[in-house]
Amino acid sequence: MKIAFIASECYPLVKTGGLADVVGSLSQALATLGHEVAVIIPYYKKNIASRNIEISTFFETMCVHMGSGIEEWCSVKTAMLGRKVRVFFIESDKYFFREGLYCDSFNNDFQDNPYRFAFFSRAALQLLRDMDFRPDVIHAHDWQTAAVCAYMKTWDWGESGIDKAKSVLTIHNIGYQGIYSADCLDYCGFDWKFFTSDIFEDYGRVNFLKGGIHFADFVTTVSPKYAEETLGGSQSYGLAPYLRSKNERYLGILNGVDYSVWDPKTDENIPENFSARSFKGKAACKRELQKRFALDENENIPVIGVVSRFAHQKGLDILAKTVGRIVDSMVVQFAIMGSGEAELENFFRWIPGEKHGKIGSFIGYSDEMSHLVEAGSDFFIMPSRYEPCGLNQIYSLKYGTLPIVRNTGGLSDTVQQYCEADGSGTGFKFDYLSTDAIFDTVGWAVSTYFDRPKHIDKMRKAAMKCDFSWKNSAKEYEKIYKF
Ligand code: ADP
Ligand code: GLC
Repeated sequence: MKIAFIASECYPLVKTGGLADVVGSLSQALATLGHEVAVIIPYYKKNIASRNIEISTFFETMCVHMGSGIEEWCSVKTAMLGRKVRVFFIESDKYFFREGLYCDSFNNDFQDNPYRFAFFSRAALQLLRDMDFRPDVIHAHDWQTAAVCAYMKTWDWGESGIDKAKSVLTIHNIGYQGIYSADCLDYCGFDWKFFTSDIFEDYGRVNFLKGGIHFADFVTTVSPKYAEETLGGSQSYGLAPYLRSKNERYLGILNGVDYSVWDPKTDENIPENFSARSFKGKAACKRELQKRFALDENENIPVIGVVSRFAHQKGLDILAKTVGRIVDSMVVQFAIMGSGEAELENFFRWIPGEKHGKIGSFIGYSDEMSHLVEAGSDFFIMPSRYEPCGLNQIYSLKYGTLPIVRNTGGLSDTVQQYCEADGSGTGFKFDYLSTDAIFDTVGWAVSTYFDRPKHIDKMRKAAMKCDFSWKNSAKEYEKIYKF
């Protein structure tokens, strides 16, 4: 099959979160199954230049027709992702040559985001047409490219085959729907007849994800549990009725991960490699982690890691309210890294000074450091309000770093609850998000560390054996492509 991925991020070219990991690794997994896969992303100022990847010009200029007769001009660059996947970049200085992908340095959404991503969605299809790609499937991701599914069905694509291709929309996070003033509809070029409450309209504004759900032939999300939660309405941010209307054309497929990037046996970002059989290297990683996060250097104190976007979704505001109490009453340390909401950045920048040697933080983004936190920690905490899939807990499992997670979405599907009777399980789960639940569950993990070390060993072995590679999930995507 010929498959085109259209997305706003792709690892290792540009990444702010798990979407990039999935686009980069699923596209390659599909190519390994024998499909021809092209990935189209924007050419951001901040990506790529720093990476050692050869990029060449593909089209010097390309004209993209938007609504109201507006013509936008851009160029197209190209590079290889691994050996099998070709990536195309839509280059538009007006829309993408700026710091930040979606927001400015104060974490405020760029005001022209609906214009930027409508243009990008339309340009990606124009590229497929101009290079005569003739896709069988066009796979869009999240609100930023949801308009792709609408353009496919509402524009005249001539003989290009674009309107005949199957459109698939994957929802990585329903908390971000792309809701903007309806003024942008004219620029987007969607007829106002589509501005109805079952398509684009959302309390007088335009909702890109909702429109995409309407037009997509198939909608997926990134874990079975999150599919259930969003259908039930509790986590759908108002979109449950529209997801329900897709019937069997809405499905949760668990994300896979790329173990060529995330495996302690081969990871080049960590000071020493290790595996379930030879666990010694993990101690070296822990030493380095304690040093880099200015924690007391003591191998007998358990370390709990965090690598996260600082966003409401992640529940770290609740952790912030109890982390001081935890280190005051238990023998445990925290290594916390991330960036995002200013209040949380400020808090986690400040708290290490108050809890010297017990809490360390790194505010910012670093691929290398994120691997060290996974490798050097004993536990990894994700108290998410909701979590469509979550990749960090899956990486943690591979590094023998036991997840402490809220029982929701993909966290629920990938972490198996510890059983004190026999030491089975791969992590510690709690149901309600509260300071007490976090305190108690961390206490449970820490007491297990000190009082039942054999159980910790057993859980680590079980965790490291888990296989969340794309082997199975890529085949599930294949099935829906043929649906
Ligand atoms: P989400 O996509 O909601 O942020 P996931 O768990 O699916 O959550 O994926 C997050 C990805 O982003 C992981 O690969 C994680 O390592 C990475 N990540 C998050 N914050 C940082 C950071 N500050 N520095 C480096 N990597 C980060
Ligand atoms: C989103 C979700 C996260 C998921 C990732 C990749 O950012 O928040 O749970 O793992 O997308 O699908």
